[in-house]
Amino acid sequence: MVGVLLLLLLLPFFLYIAAPKIRKMLSSGVCTSTVQLPGKVAVVTGANTGIGKETAKELAQRGARVYLACRDIQKGELVAREIQTMTGNQQVLVRELDLADTKSIRAFAKDFLAEEKHLHILINNAGVMMCPYSKTADGFEMHMGVNHLGHFLLTHLLLEKLKESAPSRVVNVSSLAHHLGRIHFHNLQGEKFYNAGLAYCHSKLANILFTQELARRLKGSGVTTYSVHPGTVNSELVRHSPFMKWMWWLFSFFIKTPKQGAQTSLYCAITEGLEILNGHHFRF
Ligand SMILES: NC(=O)c1ccc[n+]([C@@H]2O[C@H](COP(=O)([O-])OP(=O)(O)OC[C@H]3O[C@@H](n4cnc5c(N)ncnc54)[C@H](OP(=O)(O)O)[C@@H]3O)[C@@H](O)[C@H]2O)c1
Repeated sequence: MVGVLLLLLLLPFFLYIAAPKIRKMLSSGVCTSTVQLPGKVAVVTGANTGIGKETAKELAQRGARVYLACRDIQKGELVAREIQTMTGNQQVLVRELDLADTKSIRAFAKDFLAEEKHLHILINNAGVMMCPYSKTADGFEMHMGVNHLGHFLLTHLLLEKLKESAPSRVVNVSSLAHHLGRIHFHNLQGEKFYNAGLAYCHSKLANILFTQELARRLKGSGVTTYSVHPGTVNSELVRHSPFMKWMWWLFSFFIKTPKQGAQTSLYCAITEGLEILNGHHFRF
Protein backbone atom coordinates (compact mmCIF):
# COMPACT_ATOMS: atom_id res chain seq x y z
CA MET A 1 0.00 0.00 0.00
CA VAL A 2 2.76 2.42 1.00
CA GLY A 3 4.64 1.38 -2.13
CA VAL A 4 1.66 2.19 -4.35
CA LEU A 5 1.17 5.57 -2.65
CA LEU A 6 4.84 6.39 -3.08
CA LEU A 7 4.61 5.41 -6.73
CA LEU A 8 1.58 7.66 -7.24
CA LEU A 9 3.35 10.54 -5.54
CA LEU A 10 6.46 10.10 -7.65
CA LEU A 11 4.56 9.62 -10.91
CA PRO A 12 4.06 13.34 -11.72
CA PHE A 13 7.74 13.97 -10.98
CA PHE A 14 8.74 11.09 -13.21
CA LEU A 15 6.45 12.30 -15.99
CA TYR A 16 7.82 15.83 -15.68
CA ILE A 17 11.40 14.58 -16.06
CA ALA A 18 10.65 11.95 -18.70
CA ALA A 19 8.08 13.76 -20.84
CA PRO A 20 10.47 15.73 -23.06
CA LYS A 21 12.56 12.61 -23.70
CA ILE A 22 9.51 10.47 -24.45
CA ARG A 23 8.04 13.13 -26.73
CA LYS A 24 11.35 13.40 -28.60
CA MET A 25 11.42 9.62 -28.96
CA LEU A 26 7.82 9.49 -30.22
CA SER A 27 8.15 12.52 -32.51
CA SER A 28 11.19 11.03 -34.26
CA GLY A 29 11.83 12.24 -37.83
CA VAL A 30 12.48 15.74 -39.00
CA CYS A 31 12.51 16.79 -42.64
CA THR A 32 16.11 17.93 -43.05
CA SER A 33 15.90 18.65 -46.78
CA THR A 34 17.55 21.93 -47.73
CA VAL A 35 15.46 22.28 -50.89
CA GLN A 36 14.23 25.82 -51.52
CA LEU A 37 11.02 26.45 -53.46
CA PRO A 38 11.12 29.81 -55.25
CA GLY A 39 8.87 29.72 -58.33
CA LYS A 40 7.04 26.64 -57.05
CA VAL A 41 3.30 26.61 -56.40
CA ALA A 42 1.67 24.58 -53.63
CA VAL A 43 -1.89 23.95 -52.48
CA VAL A 44 -2.52 22.75 -48.92
CA THR A 45 -6.07 21.80 -47.94
CA GLY A 46 -7.18 22.48 -44.38
CA ALA A 47 -4.29 24.89 -43.89
CA ASN A 48 -5.94 27.17 -41.34
CA THR A 49 -4.94 25.05 -38.36
CA GLY A 50 -3.01 22.02 -37.11
CA ILE A 51 -0.71 20.05 -39.39
CA GLY A 52 -1.87 21.85 -42.54
CA LYS A 53 -1.00 25.26 -41.15
CA GLU A 54 2.52 24.15 -40.20
CA THR A 55 2.99 22.46 -43.57
CA ALA A 56 1.94 25.65 -45.39
CA LYS A 57 4.21 27.75 -43.17
CA GLU A 58 7.27 25.65 -44.00
CA LEU A 59 6.52 25.67 -47.73
CA ALA A 60 6.17 29.47 -47.59
CA GLN A 61 9.39 29.71 -45.57
CA ARG A 62 11.14 27.95 -48.45
CA GLY A 63 9.82 30.48 -50.94
CA ALA A 64 6.84 28.72 -52.57
CA ARG A 65 3.63 30.47 -53.50
CA VAL A 66 1.20 28.71 -51.17
CA TYR A 67 -2.56 28.48 -51.50
CA LEU A 68 -4.37 27.85 -48.22
CA ALA A 69 -7.48 25.97 -49.30
CA CYS A 70 -9.87 26.48 -46.40
CA ARG A 71 -13.58 26.25 -45.81
CA ASP A 72 -13.48 29.21 -43.42
CA ILE A 73 -12.00 32.20 -45.27
CA GLN A 74 -11.71 34.37 -42.16
CA LYS A 75 -9.67 31.77 -40.29
CA GLY A 76 -7.59 31.28 -43.42
CA GLU A 77 -6.87 35.02 -43.79
CA LEU A 78 -5.69 35.27 -40.19
CA VAL A 79 -3.29 32.38 -40.73
CA ALA A 80 -2.11 33.76 -44.09
CA ARG A 81 -1.21 37.05 -42.41
CA GLU A 82 0.57 35.21 -39.61
CA ILE A 83 2.61 33.17 -42.12
CA GLN A 84 3.39 36.24 -44.23
CA THR A 85 4.67 38.08 -41.17
CA MET A 86 6.71 35.13 -39.91
CA THR A 87 8.27 34.14 -43.22
CA GLY A 88 8.37 37.45 -45.09
CA ASN A 89 6.74 35.63 -48.01
CA GLN A 90 3.74 37.62 -49.25
CA GLN A 91 2.75 34.87 -51.69
CA VAL A 92 0.46 33.14 -49.21
CA LEU A 93 -3.06 33.18 -50.59
CA VAL A 94 -6.38 32.00 -49.21
CA ARG A 95 -9.06 30.40 -51.35
CA GLU A 96 -12.36 28.91 -50.30
CA LEU A 97 -12.67 25.13 -50.45
CA ASP A 98 -15.34 23.07 -48.72
CA LEU A 99 -14.52 19.42 -49.30
CA ALA A 100 -18.00 18.48 -48.12
CA ASP A 101 -19.51 20.04 -51.23
CA THR A 102 -18.49 19.09 -54.77
CA LYS A 103 -19.78 22.47 -56.06
CA SER A 104 -17.24 24.21 -53.85
CA ILE A 105 -14.47 21.82 -54.97
CA ARG A 106 -15.26 22.44 -58.63
CA ALA A 107 -15.40 26.22 -58.07
CA PHE A 108 -12.04 26.15 -56.27
CA ALA A 109 -10.42 24.14 -59.08
CA LYS A 110 -11.95 26.32 -61.82
CA ASP A 111 -10.66 29.55 -60.24
CA PHE A 112 -7.27 28.03 -59.45
CA LEU A 113 -6.79 26.76 -63.00
CA ALA A 114 -7.75 30.18 -64.38
CA GLU A 115 -5.41 31.96 -61.98
CA GLU A 116 -2.28 29.79 -61.92
CA LYS A 117 0.03 28.51 -64.61
CA HIS A 118 1.56 25.80 -62.43
CA LEU A 119 0.94 23.41 -59.57
CA HIS A 120 3.96 21.57 -58.20
CA ILE A 121 2.76 20.38 -54.80
CA LEU A 122 -0.74 19.34 -53.79
CA ILE A 123 -1.14 18.37 -50.15
CA ASN A 124 -4.47 16.71 -49.45
CA ASN A 125 -4.35 17.35 -45.73
CA ALA A 126 -7.81 18.42 -44.50
CA GLY A 127 -9.72 15.91 -42.46
CA VAL A 128 -12.49 15.22 -40.00
CA MET A 129 -12.53 12.56 -37.31
CA MET A 130 -15.30 10.92 -35.29
CA CYS A 131 -18.05 13.31 -36.29
CA PRO A 132 -21.64 12.38 -35.50
CA TYR A 133 -23.38 10.74 -38.43
CA SER A 134 -23.87 13.31 -41.14
CA LYS A 135 -23.65 13.63 -44.90
CA THR A 136 -21.94 15.97 -47.31
CA ALA A 137 -23.93 18.25 -49.60
CA ASP A 138 -23.87 15.43 -52.17
CA GLY A 139 -25.06 12.73 -49.77
CA PHE A 140 -21.77 11.02 -48.95
CA GLU A 141 -21.03 9.90 -45.41
CA MET A 142 -18.99 12.79 -43.95
CA HIS A 143 -15.64 11.01 -43.30
CA MET A 144 -15.56 9.26 -46.65
CA GLY A 145 -16.90 12.39 -48.37
CA VAL A 146 -14.42 14.91 -46.94
CA ASN A 147 -11.33 12.83 -46.23
CA HIS A 148 -11.35 10.75 -49.39
CA LEU A 149 -13.94 11.63 -52.06
CA GLY A 150 -13.44 15.40 -51.77
CA HIS A 151 -9.69 15.05 -52.19
CA PHE A 152 -10.18 12.46 -54.93
CA LEU A 153 -12.24 14.94 -56.96
CA LEU A 154 -9.89 17.84 -56.23
CA THR A 155 -6.86 15.85 -57.37
CA HIS A 156 -8.68 14.72 -60.50
CA LEU A 157 -9.60 18.31 -61.39
CA LEU A 158 -6.03 19.54 -60.87
CA LEU A 159 -4.29 16.58 -62.50
CA GLU A 160 -3.61 18.15 -65.90
CA LYS A 161 -2.02 21.17 -64.22
CA LEU A 162 0.12 18.84 -62.10
CA LYS A 163 1.21 16.97 -65.24
CA GLU A 164 2.03 20.22 -67.07
CA SER A 165 4.10 21.33 -64.06
CA ALA A 166 5.99 18.04 -63.65
CA PRO A 167 8.00 17.10 -61.71
CA SER A 168 5.18 17.53 -59.25
CA ARG A 169 3.78 15.69 -56.26
CA VAL A 170 0.54 14.80 -54.52
CA VAL A 171 0.72 14.02 -50.80
CA ASN A 172 -2.29 12.38 -49.18
CA VAL A 173 -2.43 12.68 -45.41
CA SER A 174 -3.74 9.36 -44.14
CA SER A 175 -3.32 7.82 -40.69
CA LEU A 176 -2.16 4.79 -38.76
CA ALA A 177 -5.90 4.29 -38.22
CA HIS A 178 -6.10 2.89 -41.76
CA HIS A 179 -5.12 -0.48 -40.28
CA LEU A 180 -8.64 -0.73 -38.82
CA GLY A 181 -10.27 0.43 -42.04
CA ARG A 182 -12.38 -1.69 -44.40
CA ILE A 183 -14.12 -0.64 -47.60
CA HIS A 184 -17.71 -1.82 -47.09
CA PHE A 185 -19.04 -1.44 -50.60
CA HIS A 186 -22.54 -2.44 -49.42
CA ASN A 187 -22.49 0.34 -46.79
CA LEU A 188 -20.31 3.10 -48.22
CA GLN A 189 -22.59 5.85 -46.86
CA GLY A 190 -22.87 4.28 -43.39
CA GLU A 191 -26.63 3.96 -43.75
CA LYS A 192 -26.86 0.33 -42.62
CA PHE A 193 -24.49 0.69 -39.65
CA TYR A 194 -22.27 3.49 -38.47
CA ASN A 195 -19.41 3.85 -36.04
CA ALA A 196 -17.77 7.29 -35.98
CA GLY A 197 -14.30 5.93 -35.11
CA LEU A 198 -14.37 3.22 -37.76
CA ALA A 199 -15.79 5.61 -40.37
CA TYR A 200 -12.59 7.65 -39.93
CA CYS A 201 -10.47 4.50 -40.32
CA HIS A 202 -12.29 3.50 -43.52
CA SER A 203 -11.70 6.93 -45.06
CA LYS A 204 -8.00 6.80 -44.14
CA LEU A 205 -7.67 3.39 -45.78
CA ALA A 206 -9.29 4.91 -48.88
CA ASN A 207 -6.53 7.60 -48.85
CA ILE A 208 -3.88 4.88 -49.09
CA LEU A 209 -5.65 2.85 -51.76
CA PHE A 210 -6.18 6.04 -53.75
CA THR A 211 -2.47 6.87 -53.49
CA GLN A 212 -1.43 3.44 -54.73
CA GLU A 213 -3.78 3.46 -57.69
CA LEU A 214 -2.96 7.05 -58.59
CA ALA A 215 0.74 6.19 -58.56
CA ARG A 216 0.10 3.29 -60.90
CA ARG A 217 -1.92 5.42 -63.31
CA LEU A 218 0.54 8.31 -63.26
CA LYS A 219 3.64 6.23 -63.97
CA GLY A 220 5.89 8.08 -66.40
CA SER A 221 3.92 11.34 -66.15
CA GLY A 222 6.38 13.08 -63.82
CA VAL A 223 3.70 13.34 -61.14
CA THR A 224 4.37 11.17 -58.10
CA THR A 225 2.22 10.57 -55.05
CA TYR A 226 2.70 9.44 -51.46
CA SER A 227 0.51 8.77 -48.45
CA VAL A 228 1.61 9.64 -44.94
CA HIS A 229 0.84 8.99 -41.30
CA PRO A 230 1.83 12.19 -39.49
CA GLY A 231 2.03 10.60 -36.03
CA THR A 232 -0.21 11.39 -33.08
CA VAL A 233 -0.48 15.15 -33.12
CA ASN A 234 -1.94 17.68 -30.72
CA SER A 235 -4.43 19.39 -33.04
CA GLU A 236 -8.13 20.18 -33.33
CA LEU A 237 -8.84 16.84 -34.99
CA VAL A 238 -10.36 15.44 -31.81
CA ARG A 239 -12.91 18.27 -31.57
CA HIS A 240 -15.92 15.94 -32.05
CA SER A 241 -15.04 13.50 -29.28
CA PRO A 242 -14.96 14.63 -25.62
CA PHE A 243 -13.18 11.38 -24.72
CA MET A 244 -10.45 11.87 -27.33
CA LYS A 245 -10.12 15.53 -26.29
CA TRP A 246 -9.53 14.39 -22.75
CA MET A 247 -7.01 11.75 -23.87
CA TRP A 248 -5.17 14.29 -26.03
CA TRP A 249 -5.07 16.69 -23.07
CA LEU A 250 -3.84 13.97 -20.73
CA PHE A 251 -1.06 12.88 -23.07
CA SER A 252 -0.36 16.31 -24.54
CA PHE A 253 3.17 16.21 -23.09
CA PHE A 254 4.01 13.17 -25.16
CA ILE A 255 2.28 13.62 -28.47
CA LYS A 256 3.65 15.61 -31.38
CA THR A 257 3.20 19.30 -31.90
CA PRO A 258 1.59 20.25 -35.27
CA LYS A 259 5.03 21.38 -36.46
CA GLN A 260 6.44 17.93 -35.73
CA GLY A 261 3.36 16.39 -37.33
CA ALA A 262 4.00 18.31 -40.55
CA GLN A 263 7.44 16.76 -41.09
CA THR A 264 6.29 13.63 -42.93
CA SER A 265 4.11 15.58 -45.38
CA LEU A 266 6.99 18.00 -45.99
CA TYR A 267 9.45 15.16 -46.47
CA CYS A 268 7.23 13.62 -49.15
CA ALA A 269 6.51 16.97 -50.79
CA ILE A 270 10.07 18.26 -51.19
CA THR A 271 12.78 15.65 -50.61
CA GLU A 272 14.81 15.06 -53.75
CA GLY A 273 15.03 11.60 -55.28
CA LEU A 274 11.78 10.25 -53.79
CA GLU A 275 10.27 9.49 -57.22
CA ILE A 276 11.41 5.89 -57.02
CA LEU A 277 9.07 5.41 -54.04
CA ASN A 278 6.01 6.60 -55.95
CA GLY A 279 2.84 5.33 -54.26
CA HIS A 280 4.52 4.38 -50.99
CA HIS A 281 3.23 5.04 -47.50
CA PHE A 282 5.45 7.04 -45.13
CA ARG A 283 5.51 7.51 -41.40
CA PHE A 284 8.18 8.96 -39.13
N1 LIG B 1 -3.82 14.83 -35.31
C1 LIG B 1 -3.47 13.56 -35.44
O1 LIG B 1 -3.06 12.90 -34.45
C2 LIG B 1 -3.55 12.88 -36.77
C3 LIG B 1 -3.16 11.54 -36.84
C4 LIG B 1 -3.22 10.88 -38.06
C5 LIG B 1 -3.67 11.57 -39.18
N2 LIG B 1 -4.06 12.87 -39.08
C6 LIG B 1 -4.55 13.53 -40.30
O2 LIG B 1 -3.90 14.77 -40.45
C7 LIG B 1 -4.73 15.66 -41.22
C8 LIG B 1 -4.75 17.03 -40.57
O3 LIG B 1 -5.39 16.91 -39.32
P1 LIG B 1 -5.05 17.81 -38.05
O4 LIG B 1 -4.61 16.89 -36.99
O5 LIG B 1 -4.22 18.96 -38.40
O6 LIG B 1 -6.54 18.26 -37.66
P2 LIG B 1 -7.23 19.69 -37.49
O7 LIG B 1 -6.39 20.57 -36.64
O8 LIG B 1 -8.63 19.42 -37.06
O9 LIG B 1 -7.22 20.27 -38.98
C9 LIG B 1 -8.10 19.75 -39.94
C10 LIG B 1 -8.27 20.75 -41.06
O10 LIG B 1 -9.19 20.21 -42.01
C11 LIG B 1 -10.16 21.22 -42.30
N3 LIG B 1 -11.43 20.69 -42.76
C12 LIG B 1 -12.30 19.91 -42.09
N4 LIG B 1 -13.38 19.69 -42.83
C13 LIG B 1 -13.21 20.36 -44.00
C14 LIG B 1 -14.00 20.55 -45.16
N5 LIG B 1 -15.23 20.05 -45.28
N6 LIG B 1 -13.49 21.30 -46.16
C15 LIG B 1 -12.27 21.85 -46.06
N7 LIG B 1 -11.50 21.74 -44.98
C16 LIG B 1 -11.97 20.99 -43.96
C17 LIG B 1 -10.31 21.99 -41.00
O11 LIG B 1 -10.94 23.24 -41.23
P3 LIG B 1 -11.80 23.98 -40.04
O12 LIG B 1 -10.78 24.51 -39.08
O13 LIG B 1 -12.56 25.03 -40.75
O14 LIG B 1 -12.67 22.93 -39.44
C18 LIG B 1 -8.85 22.10 -40.58
O15 LIG B 1 -8.25 23.14 -41.29
C19 LIG B 1 -6.09 14.99 -41.31
O16 LIG B 1 -6.24 14.41 -42.59
C20 LIG B 1 -6.03 13.90 -40.26
O17 LIG B 1 -6.84 12.80 -40.56
C21 LIG B 1 -3.99 13.54 -37.91
